[in-house]
Amino acid sequence: MSPRMEYKVSTDPSAEAVSLPSLVDPVKWITDERFSSKELRLFNDAAQLYELQLSRMEFLTLGNDLQQFGRRTAYFEEVMGRKSDHFFLSSVRGKGQIGHSNQYLTHWFYPYKGKFHGQMVKALINFMGVPEGGLVIDPFVGSGTTLVECATLGIQSLGIEINPALCMVSQTKGDALTIHYPDLEDFINSTNPTLVFKYFRDKEVSLAQWPISENEFGTDAQVLLEKVWTEYFPPGMVRDLPFKWRNVLLVCFMHAHSDYSYLMGTNKAMSLDAFFIRDLNEYMATLEGTYEILNRLDIHIQPPRVLFGTALDIPLASDSVDGIVTSPPYSIALDYVKNDAHLLRYMNMNTSQLRQAMVGLRGSATEKLRLYEKDMKRALEEMRRVLRPGAHAAILLGDVTVGSIRTNFCDRIVEWWTDMGGEALSMRRPILGGYARLRYEHIMLLRK
Ligand SMILES: C[S@@+](CC[C@H](N)C(=O)[O-])C[C@H]1O[C@@H](n2cnc3c(N)ncnc32)[C@H](O)[C@@H]1O
Repeated sequence: MSPRMEYKVSTDPSAEAVSLPSLVDPVKWITDERFSSKELRLFNDAAQLYELQLSRMEFLTLGNDLQQFGRRTAYFEEVMGRKSDHFFLSSVRGKGQIGHSNQYLTHWFYPYKGKFHGQMVKALINFMGVPEGGLVIDPFVGSGTTLVECATLGIQSLGIEINPALCMVSQTKGDALTIHYPDLEDFINSTNPTLVFKYFRDKEVSLAQWPISENEFGTDAQVLLEKVWTEYFPPGMVRDLPFKWRNVLLVCFMHAHSDYSYLMGTNKAMSLDAFFIRDLNEYMATLEGTYEILNRLDIHIQPPRVLFGTALDIPLASDSVDGIVTSPPYSIALDYVKNDAHLLRYMNMNTSQLRQAMVGLRGSATEKLRLYEKDMKRALEEMRRVLRPGAHAAILLGDVTVGSIRTNFCDRIVEWWTDMGGEALSMRRPILGGYARLRYEHIMLLRK
């Protein structure tokens, strides 16, 4: 390996110049010149600055063992001439997938609007150096992106979510990774999907009585799902199927509901049953691909756990968690209750109660931001409490403009964390073609 040379602006032809690969090959920068793009090849679409930063961060943590690196990397397509596991996992493509970044495996099940990208989550976990069997939590777990990534890395995970319907979605997406596809295929081939559709259509779930109250917090999503099945669905047919299968069918039905409501009045509109049949076929293709790839790569899924509860009171012991990757609600950026109206309506959920408990939606116009600040600070204190000393939390958040004022919660989080005695730094991630009020998100890296 040649020693590093200084770049010199000189007209003297004999002056020593830095080699072209050292100038333009990102892998040389990522690996401190230990490797070039001949040995480690980035995915072609890993081109944003934050992606290169993350690829360097994951390499510096895990790059000493290239065999393990090939199994865990999020941003490298090839390591020493061999395709990485992420290459294969992200080849199980899902609806709306962009490159190798999102929507692969079961990530695309249920079209939740505020999802973050699995590839980015994986690189953050790699940077944190969380080992197999370690514990990562996401206290605002939404549709479960962090959990799916942890599951394929063999890492234990716990998600906390205040919306019971989303608890069920994320539990189902995690559980679906371990469905034995050939058995499910036999069932689907031997049944009439229209009857499955009718089973769901004829029975509305009613979570109206489900109290969003502290007394219920800590309930496991699996218990919640069992309760929904036993209390709201009639015996026979779908209810008699294995737990993981019927949950996937329920999520698929809710997916069809979402497609139906969003595409109504457009040239893509179809009937609800046509959406269900189409979505079911696509779910089956994903489950088949997932089953095959996980077997081929000999990946042992670590089943995730989801709790109905609040990020403001994490039910874990202090100093017990190896990493946190989360994306809290943005201050009034998205109205999650409105976004998921079709889902909440099908589940007949008490949305006013839910609003009162959700970070970012509490309070009327003037006090909203004050309550948001209070809740975010509290959530941060909780994250700090449960992290073990030296471990990291990564928080993805954007500063929205309220009225004509740009909020600065990302800077505040960095300040709060350093005031609490931790180390904090923030990276910027552009949102391309995204939400007009938001051009950048920040990935805040916090070390306890
Ligand atoms: C930005 S979304 C998270 C999306 C997630 N990263 C994903 O990929 O699906 C924020 C989530 O926080 C949830 N939430 C709001 N207030 C909460 C609270 N007090 N405790 C736990 N979750 C909460 C919302 O319901 C929403 O699902």
